[in-house]
Amino acid sequence: MALPESFLDELTARCDIYDVVSRYVQLKKKGANYFGLCPFHSEKSPSFSVSREKQIYHCFGCGAGGGVISFVMNIENMTFIEAVRHLAAMAGMEIPEDDRDAGRRSRRARLIALSTDAARHYVAQLYSPAGKAGLNYLLGRGLRPVTLKRFGLGFAPQGWDGLIKAMTAKGYTKSELLECGLAVQNKSGGLYDRFRNRAMFPIIDIKGEVIAFGGRVTDDSEPKYLNSSDTPIFNKSRNLFAMNFAKKSKRNYFILAEGYMDVIALHQAGFDCAVASLGTSLTEEQARLMASRGKGDVVVCYDSDQAGRKAAQRAIDLLKPAGLAVRVLRMSGAKDPDEFIRKNGPEAFENLINRSSTDVEYRLDEIRAGHRLEENDDRVEYLQQAAQYLATLESAVEREVFSHRLAKETGVSQQAILNEVEQALRTRRRREKASRQRQEMNPARQAQPGPRQLRYENIRSARSEEGLLALALSDRELLNQAAARVSPLEFSSPFLAKVYDMALRRSQGGGEAGLPQCLALLEPEEGQLLAQIVQRFQPPAAPQQALEDYISTIQYEHLKKANQEDDKKDTLLELAERKLQQERERGGK
Ligand code: GTP
Ligand code: MN
Repeated sequence: MALPESFLDELTARCDIYDVVSRYVQLKKKGANYFGLCPFHSEKSPSFSVSREKQIYHCFGCGAGGGVISFVMNIENMTFIEAVRHLAAMAGMEIPEDDRDAGRRSRRARLIALSTDAARHYVAQLYSPAGKAGLNYLLGRGLRPVTLKRFGLGFAPQGWDGLIKAMTAKGYTKSELLECGLAVQNKSGGLYDRFRNRAMFPIIDIKGEVIAFGGRVTDDSEPKYLNSSDTPIFNKSRNLFAMNFAKKSKRNYFILAEGYMDVIALHQAGFDCAVASLGTSLTEEQARLMASRGKGDVVVCYDSDQAGRKAAQRAIDLLKPAGLAVRVLRMSGAKDPDEFIRKNGPEAFENLINRSSTDVEYRLDEIRAGHRLEENDDRVEYLQQAAQYLATLESAVEREVFSHRLAKETGVSQQAILNEVEQALRTRRRREKASRQRQEMNPARQAQPGPRQLRYENIRSARSEEGLLALALSDRELLNQAAARVSPLEFSSPFLAKVYDMALRRSQGGGEAGLPQCLALLEPEEGQLLAQIVQRFQPPAAPQQALEDYISTIQYEHLKKANQEDDKKDTLLELAERKLQQERERGGK
């Protein structure tokens, strides 16, 4: 990261976390903190907290947390630098550019220019004699000429270097072609075109820039589709095909389909809110990308085969936590939306959307599909599985409504079904409570931070390190005192040592060394953990005394470890113990 620290200091000072979060979440003051519904998972009672004093957010439900920059990264699905730009624009600040930064920016610009020129080249080929097969293929699939134009579809003719020649003639280098994934290097170092004899689908990001391609064969050879792999300008898990159009749609929902052809056929038929994940299963980032556009609903419209149904269930499980209401569309007599529309027309598809079921209905249908209701055994099993599922629903109203439906469907009384649900609910709650109690009875486990690479080796010391940091990052005077007495090398947790070291270096350099500044410099995962630590920390009545205790414990544990490593150091331990005793006495008076 090439931004000067002083710039980040000013940015975090000018962008109050309360102001920024309030744009997305309704916050209510409760004690020293503000609370609201967490935008990062779906919940009914607020467990998302914002501390204006500490300039952090932390969700007690899902664990999300960090400083103002990480909040913007998460909610807007932005990279660090994009979030910084976003906040700087809000605060009316100019971003200082150093050479490396400018270099990276111009490199990105070069690669985007190359992708755009390549897309133009493929379009020109499509309408040239060399592209006849491609054009016939696409028109043969029912696409109209205006649709081809709108989506910028093109063709990569047969041959090994058509694109390479055209692009090098425009001044692009071989390494740029390789970086963009448009050319491949063979064993002897020569380059050849990656996409050959394929209909080309440019992938355009939300800002409207060409960043990658998908290419389809025009016969039944394999592989059917070839997609760009990730490049410096393309990350397939962060983009959705056709989002550049769908974000402008007047429809207040997205349609999520599987394939390029599905999406294009949907747009052509007037469903301009359709997007597709790019040849992979849906990711959390793509779910957030949809959630961040202010449309609350997603209609999942995957292929009607077994694989598509499985993918739909997976998509539901990703979309709901992102706060989206999910409906699932079922087609019969067609394998995918493209085929359905070609057979039945747009109105029939509109009807399918209107009849699409909520995720609960969809799930119940899925459970029923495996059972023959006229058989008693099957019916009992269906009801039991359905009751188990209903017991996972948060809303009592939903449980009531769907048990009513189940009753009508199976001829069993609603009361009997509700009893079954209640029982499943009790079992589940009992299990959850037991697991909570197990956690509480095992303080070492409870004290462990979530991410695996940040596991504490010595909980006792780590607790004191956490306390010391929480105090030192909120009070410069306490930081100075700690600095004079304990070194990061004495910390047991590498992560906490890193944060402490960062604060010390910043403070020695005369900079701000508080929590917001440290958060701006940490990786998001680290920032999340630090926010959690600080937000859970109970401020002691006597901070000075607490700091002394923390330092003693850290040093004692450190020496104990040194001693374990080398048992000749018995005397040191004794010394330490004596020191600890002294500290206590000194603190006590
Ligand atoms: P057609 O209608 O046959 O053109 O394809 P489709 O749009 O119905 O696609 P399908 O349901 O077969 O696959 C869905 C998506 O998965 C496609 O749009 C591609 O993004 C991806 N995909 C399909 N086949 C392949 C393949 O062979 N390789 C890779 N990498 N991706 C594929
Ligand atoms: Mn298809």
